[in-house]
Amino acid sequence: MSLPMTVRDPALPGRVRIHEVGARDGLQNEKTAVPTEVKAEFVRRLAAAGLTTIEATSFVHPKWVPQLADAEELFPRVRDLPVRLPVLVPNERGLDRALALGAREVAVFASATESFAKANLNRTVDEALAMFAPTVTRAIEAGLKVRGYLSMCFGDPWEGAVPVEQVVRVTKALADMGCDELSLGDTIGVATPGHVGALLTALNEAGVPDSRLAVHFHDTYGQALSNTLAALRHGVTTVDASAGGLGGCPYAKSATGNLATEDLVWMLDGLGIETGVDLTALTATSVWMADQLGRPSPSRTVRALSHKES
Ligand code: HMG
Ligand code: MG
Repeated sequence: MSLPMTVRDPALPGRVRIHEVGARDGLQNEKTAVPTEVKAEFVRRLAAAGLTTIEATSFVHPKWVPQLADAEELFPRVRDLPVRLPVLVPNERGLDRALALGAREVAVFASATESFAKANLNRTVDEALAMFAPTVTRAIEAGLKVRGYLSMCFGDPWEGAVPVEQVVRVTKALADMGCDELSLGDTIGVATPGHVGALLTALNEAGVPDSRLAVHFHDTYGQALSNTLAALRHGVTTVDASAGGLGGCPYAKSATGNLATEDLVWMLDGLGIETGVDLTALTATSVWMADQLGRPSPSRTVRALSHKES
């Protein structure tokens, strides 16, 4: 299998941590039910391909995301893997479920906009923050790492453009609550690189350094990789991606698949940036998963590498 020629860019970091979201963001939006054992095997194969942080599932209300209603069956099948396995929890009920199964990392997920807070969490932005505060406090007391997601950082399907100050306010609230990492979500994939740089600069100026930030790009307009490069140039070193480009959000119809992990690894390999991921094994995993789902992966890199004959 061909790999890109490596040419280092000294302005970029030497290492990037990939936060793999395929098993959660990828599968939460699948139309057909994926058997629990297939999900578990997906997570095992991702770990074997060298991914070190793999978001496993969500402990949300099963009626809100039926695709992940098997979290109690899934998590015990993967929890002993030697990787970080964060899970989504929206509230204390979700945290209780995650703690009961021995989860070591959780993520809460806020919205920068009122419309998405209502659609995704049945709360206003501030009501959702009030729901997260005791959840985060208890998780930290229990010794867990806590990530805070922020959705609709660059645009919202109902409200349009989202002012940077609005995003900074909610990100700060999550940071002050104790979330050690903040992931900036372009839920509907409308961001462009200049916008990414402007938001990161505004967050730095508000006291949130790049070292605490991660970027989470959906690829609706084909901008996810350019946006990632802009974030890396700025100083961010944690990037969310989804194997095979799976993904979307059931509560934002215009959300498409995430940045494909293979497309990201191809670029990072070419730049000589270490990730620890074996692109051949990862591509094989996404081809296997595409077979399970009955449709080809949307990732350009998966398609190119799996169809290559010479
Ligand atoms: P609600 O209907 O307001 O719930 O939903 P409630 O707090 O009123 O509780 C109602 C009942 O649900 C109660 O039961 C609770 O115990 C139960 P009752 O007392 O009536 O018998 N309940 C639960 N049961 C199991 N697990 C729970 C749970 N919580 C309450 N955790 C709620 C509010 C937050 C629960 C709901 O809106 C929800 O689950 N939303 C999750 C939506 C979601 O998962 N969306 C996708 C993930 S976000 C995303 O994809 C974006 C991201 O990728 C970043 C990006 O791209 O931007 C992260
Ligand atoms: Mg997402």
